[in-house]
Amino acid sequence: MHPYSERRARLIERMGSGVAVIATAPEHLRNRDTHYGYRHDSYFYYLTGFSEPEAVLVLIAGDAPRSILFCREKNEEREIWDGWRHGPDAAREQFGFDEAHCYAELDAKLAELIANQPRLHYVIGEDAAWDNRMMAALNAVRAQSRAGKFAPSELLDIRQPLDDMRLIKDAHELDIMRRAAEISARAHRRAMQATRPGAFEYEIEAELLYEFRRSGSEAPAYGSIVAGGANACVLHYVSNNAPLRDGDLLLIDAGCELGGYASDVTRAWPVNGCYSAAQRDLYQLVLAAQDAAFAAVRPGARFIDYHDAAVRVLAQGFVDLNMLAGSADSVIEQGTYKRFYMHRTGHWLGMDVHDAGEYRPRPGSAGAGEQDWRALEAGMVLTVEPGCYVRPADGVPEAFWNIGIRIEDDVVVTADGCDIYTSATPKTIVEVEAVMREARG
Ligand code: GLY
Ligand code: MN
Ligand code: MN
Repeated sequence: MHPYSERRARLIERMGSGVAVIATAPEHLRNRDTHYGYRHDSYFYYLTGFSEPEAVLVLIAGDAPRSILFCREKNEEREIWDGWRHGPDAAREQFGFDEAHCYAELDAKLAELIANQPRLHYVIGEDAAWDNRMMAALNAVRAQSRAGKFAPSELLDIRQPLDDMRLIKDAHELDIMRRAAEISARAHRRAMQATRPGAFEYEIEAELLYEFRRSGSEAPAYGSIVAGGANACVLHYVSNNAPLRDGDLLLIDAGCELGGYASDVTRAWPVNGCYSAAQRDLYQLVLAAQDAAFAAVRPGARFIDYHDAAVRVLAQGFVDLNMLAGSADSVIEQGTYKRFYMHRTGHWLGMDVHDAGEYRPRPGSAGAGEQDWRALEAGMVLTVEPGCYVRPADGVPEAFWNIGIRIEDDVVVTADGCDIYTSATPKTIVEVEAVMREARG
């Protein structure tokens, strides 16, 4: 079965009864009459594989399950200007829906489709215009109560079952994510080889984009962070417009989106091709923290365990390098390590870079009560991204000032541990320096 039809069937099964209405994303104006590049809604795409704007999926659960698509009609005039459209007939055929209709018929048909259904499932509260549309559909049904129609009495958020499904990737998704990771690995290698003192951050960003696009990626999965020197200590730095200085590190956090799936990779390398002694100390520390974290990623471990493992290594290192007073235990207990490491060691990864899925068990769900954090399962994909960011301050050895390092890889949980999808990205000091030397000849 097509992976998208299979997912629709699974969701219908989880719904039990009622009707679900899932819309794709709206188009957004950038300025005057120019739009941002269109990106479908992740939930909608997960269930359809259909990436045109103005499309809605309706799923009907129960004894006679059906999946129905609403999409733009064929229109020669619009297709001359904006490009080819499937139209309902071809979309139904190609994507395996039971029915397909023109988007223009949506409001009229919605009232019929939700009438006499016990429950209405949709993405509640994300888009006020869409909420209004769903309320209008409910009111349209209520207006026919004298004709014996009744409106659903329960509204349910379709994100809950969908998030659980999206958290465990199927083979189709894992294949795409592995390829996305490989493209990002090549892009980082290319960026390393283009780095030299005097180049601007945006010149190196251009190398990433070149490798993404020539490899078939649609776009970066998120705003690329290309941060030289002290800019690396700004966690969400996006200006990417400063010159690179001899003796500084360059931190790049960039990943491509391929086939609707994100990759998310960070490395930090020396602008002049050779890590200084202080940079080496901190880099090795972050690398050791990442290794400890990888060892804690396996089925049955809690989501927080790999963060705790990384924090323990970092805390000990901050004490050993005279960045913090006390012991690793006291630094962890008092949370003083957060001065240099203030983010979590990772997140779910999938269609969205910070992907769908709960991090703690829901009250009442299986495992809730015993577990404070969700247990990892084979097929989950997550990032492992410890870091260290040192702002100038009294009491902190000056040699470390303005060094920002993060090492981030994408991993899938396997039956007995994890598999690193981004492992082709140069990472050890020896590897990175060799890759940079290669470019200099
Ligand atoms: N690039 C976003 C993150 O690492 O979470
Ligand atoms: Mn990340
Ligand atoms: Mn990242």
